[in-house]
Amino acid sequence: MLKQSISVFIGTMIVVGSVLYMSGTIAGEKTIAPEEIGIRKQTVFTENTQVPEVKYPDTPPGTGKTLSRAYPTVPPQIPHSIKDFLPITAKENACLNCHMPDVAKTVGATPIPPSHFQRRFSKTGKPIYKIAGANYYCVSCHVPQANVEPPIENVFGKQ
Ligand code: HEC
Ligand code: HEC
Repeated sequence: MLKQSISVFIGTMIVVGSVLYMSGTIAGEKTIAPEEIGIRKQTVFTENTQVPEVKYPDTPPGTGKTLSRAYPTVPPQIPHSIKDFLPITAKENACLNCHMPDVAKTVGATPIPPSHFQRRFSKTGKPIYKIAGANYYCVSCHVPQANVEPPIENVFGKQ
C-alpha cells in the first residue's frame, strides 16, 4: 500500500514537473540566435575567414605620436612605419641606426633603454656596449600601433 502511494506520488511529480518545464520554455523563455553566441556577431554555422583590416602607421619616423604605456614594463608600440626597416637580419638592423643611445637624441627617437644591453665586461674591464641577443630582434616585442576597433572594450587599467 505504502509502495503504491510512493510510486503514484513520484509519477505525479514527473508529470507536474514536465508540464512546468514545457510551459516555461514555450511561454517566453529567451532563445539565443546563432549570431549572438560569439564575439564576431556572425552565425556559428558558417565560417567567415575574412579578418577585419588592421591599419598600421604608414608615416615615416619623426611624425608619429607615442602612446602612453598601459603599465611600466610593457614594450612601447612603434608609432611609425617599419616597412623600410624590415627584415631585421644578423647583419642589418635598421632600428639601431636611430635608436642607439648615442644617435637617438639627434634624430628625436627614444633611446634604447639600458635593459636591452648586454651586461658584460671585456677582459680589460671595459663595459661591452652591445644589444643583448634576446633584445636584437626588436619586432618580437615591439609592434606598430594599429588602428583597430576592438569588439569588446579593453578596460585594463581603467577599473
Ligand atoms: C629613421 C629613424 C628611425 C628608425 C630607422 C626607426 N625608428 Fe623608431 N622612432 C624614431 C623616432 C623619431 C621616434 C619618435 C616618434 C616618431 O617621431 O615617430 C621613434 C619611436 C619609436 C618607438 C616608440 C618609443 C616610445 O617612447 O614610445 C618605438 C618602440 C620604436 N620607434 C621602435 C622602432 C623599431 C622596432 C624600429 C625598427 C623596426 C625603428 N623604431 C626604426 C626613429 C626611428
Ligand atoms: C624581449 C622583448 C624586447 C625586445 C626584443 C626589444 N625590446 Fe625594447 N622594450 C621592451 C620592454 C619590455 C620595454 C619597456 C621596459 C624597459 O624599458 O626595459 C622596452 C622599451 C623600449 C624603448 C623605450 C625606452 C624608454 O626609455 O622608454 C625603446 C626605444 C625600445 N625598447 C627599443 C627597442 C629596439 C630598437 C629594439 C631592437 C634592437 C628592442 N627595443 C627590442 C622589450 C623588448
